[in-house]
Amino acid sequence: MTVDPSLLSSYQHPEGTLKDRLAPRTDMRKGILDPHLGIVSGKSVLDIGCNNGYFTIEAMKRGARRAVGVDESNAILGARGLAEEEGVAAEFWQADLDSKEFRRFCPKFDVVFLLSVLTHVHDKDEFLDWLDSRVRYALIFESNHGERNRSHIDLVTKHMHFEGVESLGPSDIPEKPHYLWICRKWNHEQRYTFLQGIEPEFVAIDAIKGWDQMSPEKQAGGYPTTSKRHQELVADIKARGIRQPLILREKDGVLTGFQGVHRFLAAKQLGYKDVPCKIVRGLFFKHLDK
Ligand SMILES: C[S@@+](CC[C@H](N)C(=O)[O-])C[C@H]1O[C@@H](n2cnc3c(N)ncnc32)[C@H](O)[C@@H]1O
Repeated sequence: MTVDPSLLSSYQHPEGTLKDRLAPRTDMRKGILDPHLGIVSGKSVLDIGCNNGYFTIEAMKRGARRAVGVDESNAILGARGLAEEEGVAAEFWQADLDSKEFRRFCPKFDVVFLLSVLTHVHDKDEFLDWLDSRVRYALIFESNHGERNRSHIDLVTKHMHFEGVESLGPSDIPEKPHYLWICRKWNHEQRYTFLQGIEPEFVAIDAIKGWDQMSPEKQAGGYPTTSKRHQELVADIKARGIRQPLILREKDGVLTGFQGVHRFLAAKQLGYKDVPCKIVRGLFFKHLDK
């Protein structure tokens, strides 16, 4: 051990100067990095409130393309020391997640870890709204200990937009349980990575061709606009707006809907004039037909 023990917190490191029972808990949570979950391999990863960077460093070891840990405390210095000691190119930023600078300059990441941190955040609603715009594919969320905090997953899903939320169960001793979830976004940006490089723009809803009331039912796995699921989407857009741009194709000056028919129909119903879209043009066009 060459890293100064005063920089190591017992939260993640058994040799940390603050001795408590939390370090072994980190071992219990290693499952979130299991390859079968496919969470980090090839991905960019942000570990918010990373402490000594255990999960940041492990993400790199398990094939993440980039892993960044953020923490306001000096535990981040310990994280840097541990990464250096292990020869792992993880990055660590000492920043306050509530600060204007962090919110302004933090880029998007494929995967975000938010493990036992949410209770520390001052304005959780505002933070989670912001976080939704930073997460591309998945959020690994762990509530802080206690049954009361377990309900924070409801806050997370209220402010963030996911296709699937999977519970991984309790992640600590039964008397003081934390709970873990994997919240996944499924979107075309995951499959067609070139979409990440296209900036959204606002498009007149009436200029979008190819979609009508019957379109959803013609798609594999589609559901009708009369269904409860579609009505919930309308209510969600009414309350919180469109949070993911639609994907359109442009050919010979005609814009055709490719992804987001339910959002399109919901926006029409709500009287939207222009909607945020990513438009696939030219050379990229053929990728969408694969
Ligand atoms: C309970 S620990 C969780 C550490 C790690 N995520 C884990 O689960 O092993 C909470 C961490 O959040 C950090 N933290 C709390 N408030 C923060 C803030 N405003 N900005 C950045 N980090 C913060 C603390 O310094 C601490 O390392």
